[in-house]
Amino acid sequence: MPYANTTHSYGAIAKGFHWLTALLILTIIPLGLIANDLAHAVRNPDIATTEADTARAALLFSLHKTIGVTIFVVALLRILWAVIQPHPKLLNGDKPAEAWLASTVHWLLYGSLVLVPLTGWVHHAATSGFAPIWWPFGQTLPFVPKDEGVAQTSATLHYILQWVLIGAVTLHILGALKHHVIDRDATLRRMLPGRTTATPTDRQPGHALPFVTALAVWAIAIGGGAAAGFFSHEHETGAETAALEAVESDWQVQEGTLDITVSQMGSVVSGTFADWTAEIAYSEEPDADGKHGNVTVTVSIPSLTLGSVTDQAMGPDYFAAETHPTATFTADILAEGDGHVADGTLTIKDQSVPVELPFTLAIDGDTATAQGALSVDRRDFNIGLGTKDEGTLGFTVDISFDLTAKRP
Ligand code: HEM
Ligand code: HEM
Repeated sequence: MPYANTTHSYGAIAKGFHWLTALLILTIIPLGLIANDLAHAVRNPDIATTEADTARAALLFSLHKTIGVTIFVVALLRILWAVIQPHPKLLNGDKPAEAWLASTVHWLLYGSLVLVPLTGWVHHAATSGFAPIWWPFGQTLPFVPKDEGVAQTSATLHYILQWVLIGAVTLHILGALKHHVIDRDATLRRMLPGRTTATPTDRQPGHALPFVTALAVWAIAIGGGAAAGFFSHEHETGAETAALEAVESDWQVQEGTLDITVSQMGSVVSGTFADWTAEIAYSEEPDADGKHGNVTVTVSIPSLTLGSVTDQAMGPDYFAAETHPTATFTADILAEGDGHVADGTLTIKDQSVPVELPFTLAIDGDTATAQGALSVDRRDFNIGLGTKDEGTLGFTVDISFDLTAKRP
């Protein structure tokens, strides 16, 4: 069998690419659907799932992503090959509507082979922590920031475009069967192994109209998805981000960040609390007990964004944000060596745990800047007790802050 195409037949390389792609695509679609169902169940606090389900979802997703990236690379090579090869002429060019439909579907398939894996890959690169790609590359992508907005938009595009692909593949397979069973022509046979000779029709409609139709199908699918609200993402937990009241403080916080970091499935996931207040009393001179002052920090739990697992983190087994919407830290400020330590109690959910938070402090006139960090064990706060495996969700949670405050 010749390797290259002719105007009458597909060569071995084009056939090899075709059937390899078909195998990979017909494997990855059910994998995506099953993995996604399982992941939704795992993330839904109302559905009872086990740690084995979480591990299975991660495994299926890793497989899905690894095959998906393979499809992307194979698709690029396949398209390159198709571009430099002659294209076998149509056997049904005398039926323009049928030829238009078949050719539209081919454009949709070629486009999908690039767009579907690419949107999945961008989604993976923009989020963190869940199910790595097993190739030694591609955990991150150039120009793709770790950003929740990018992650959600690309996930929605992945979802819409994969349904266009599923529709196109279905039509494509039905078309191939129609040619074989009803028309009894050589369309399917010339894509199968072996040498098949078939005579193309004299009339050969062009590719421009099908190409424009394919573009219109994508535009309608994406536009329809947008109109149906697929791109607007609400938090599903029901826990509102109740804004905290401003506090009166000797030192008024001007700006600052409060971050947490935890390891999930072996990847580092970082999160930020957008809403928190700090009431700080501090004087440079310690009192008779050696105290420089005290601090009370109140944190709005639902204001946390934690990559793709923000909603999951709010669930009853984790922060239980609906019943425990705030966390507090109250502490005395003491000098320690060259720096300071806030020695007090951290209360998350219904658990109060003594903690020491070392921090550095620099005062310039009436402006103070401070940075500090501490590590806690999530199990001390009854967080994620259902996830006993440290590989799935690390026990240690690193908390860090950075703030600038002013004295009136
Ligand atoms: C041709 C290749 C691909 C096809 C046909 C495909 C198909 C699918 C399908 C059918 C789903 C289930 C969606 C649902 O039921 O809501 C899915 C989900 C997903 N896929 Fe793919 N996929 C492909 C490539 C990739 C690649 C390369 C990646 C990442 C590297 C990826 C990452 C994901 C992720 C993360 C989800 C879950 C999305 C979510 O949580 O909303 N996919 N994919
Ligand atoms: C069991 C599944 C499949 C069958 C029976 C099948 C059958 C065929 C046949 C008979 C052709 C030749 C059409 C012609 O000569 O005009 C063809 C072409 C094509 N197939 Fe499939 N196919 C299958 C799955 C897929 C899948 C999953 C994809 C990709 C997502 C795909 C992508 C394509 C493309 C892009 C072409 C056009 C090739 C070209 O002429 O440039 N096929 N297929």
